[in-house]
Amino acid sequence: MNAVPQVPPRDTHASVTDHVLVADHLAKHYTVRRGMFGHGTVKALNGVSFALERGKTLAVVGESGCGKSTLARQLTMIEPPTSGRLVIDGVDVAGADHATIVQLRRRVQMVFQNPFASLNPRKTVEQTLAEPLVINTQTSAAERAERIAHMMRIVGLRPEHAKRYPHMFSGGQRQRVAIARAMILDPQIVVADEPVSALDVSIQAQILNLFMDLQDEFKTSYVFISHNLSVVEHIADDVMVMYFGGVAELGDKKTVFERPRHPYTRSLMSATPSIFEADRRIKIKLQGELPSPLNPPSGCTFHQRCPYAVERCRTEEPKLREVDGRQVSCHRAEEVGESDA
Ligand SMILES: Nc1ncnc2c1ncn2[C@@H]1O[C@H](COP(=O)(O)OP(=O)(O)OP(=O)(O)O)[C@@H](O)[C@H]1O
Ligand SMILES: [Mg+2]
Repeated sequence: MNAVPQVPPRDTHASVTDHVLVADHLAKHYTVRRGMFGHGTVKALNGVSFALERGKTLAVVGESGCGKSTLARQLTMIEPPTSGRLVIDGVDVAGADHATIVQLRRRVQMVFQNPFASLNPRKTVEQTLAEPLVINTQTSAAERAERIAHMMRIVGLRPEHAKRYPHMFSGGQRQRVAIARAMILDPQIVVADEPVSALDVSIQAQILNLFMDLQDEFKTSYVFISHNLSVVEHIADDVMVMYFGGVAELGDKKTVFERPRHPYTRSLMSATPSIFEADRRIKIKLQGELPSPLNPPSGCTFHQRCPYAVERCRTEEPKLREVDGRQVSCHRAEEVGESDA
């Protein structure tokens, strides 16, 4: 799936696009050892295009191994992409000089699934939050203290928490610390990779609400990765469904969820019984496993698991195209969802 067409034209109504982040055919291929037979290529990310609007949330969904974290590492410039373009706030990352990249890194922060692993166990909350300020700003100690206290309050931590270490907190509180650290430089973009998946369900809602409150206050744009559609339903403006390193379906949440046009999106929704009550008629059971990334299927990467698959799907790779108000990569998108409407 390496021929995703143009960046989705989502701003047809606006003369000035306000996209804080644009991914254009982003790809990341890894070379891996393959037993005695030399090397193979894992196309972890294979031509992903989207545009994130300022102050909005794009949720990225898809099952384990589809490339979500690989995408997150490209967007946060942890790794360079193999090919494709990343434009952050109008700046093409590939062409930027070192000083510009340093600036861009400040503007894009990341929140990980497991705050225990991402926080330094030897640093108190105060030290953890001071570090980005010391490295990136000219603030005085007094200004830093004030900013840290303010940020702690905003994320729901109490003043006495400042001197505590990560192990002295609950999982939810630790994630609040990680969120405070991500937010303290007032980034334009936060990429959150499964930030609530490790938390109790009751705590998940609190942390999701915190993300949403922060977005209201700071107008931060989010790329929010989750395999949980209930979470996505809660937080997303737009949804990008990924499959096997590519985009299966991309559009605004209502459009995608009300009438999914990719069989894979439908199967994900069938597997989430707690929501989408109106869509219980949609029943597609996902068969089989994600194919081996070292041995990708021909044609549509989903065809082996797809109840809609026809001969064309086995031979011809579907391009991402506009159908019914969203982008979808399925030869039969027009038919998907029609019979049960
Ligand atoms: N550094 C690497 N070297 C080789 N292969 C990799 C590397 N990183 C990821 N992959 C492969 O790329 C594919 C996508 O992995 P990725 O971690 O991005 O998936 P994911 O969608 O985040 O999955 P999960 O939901 O389990 O976190 C997988 O097949 C994975 O094995
Ligand atoms: Mg991951």
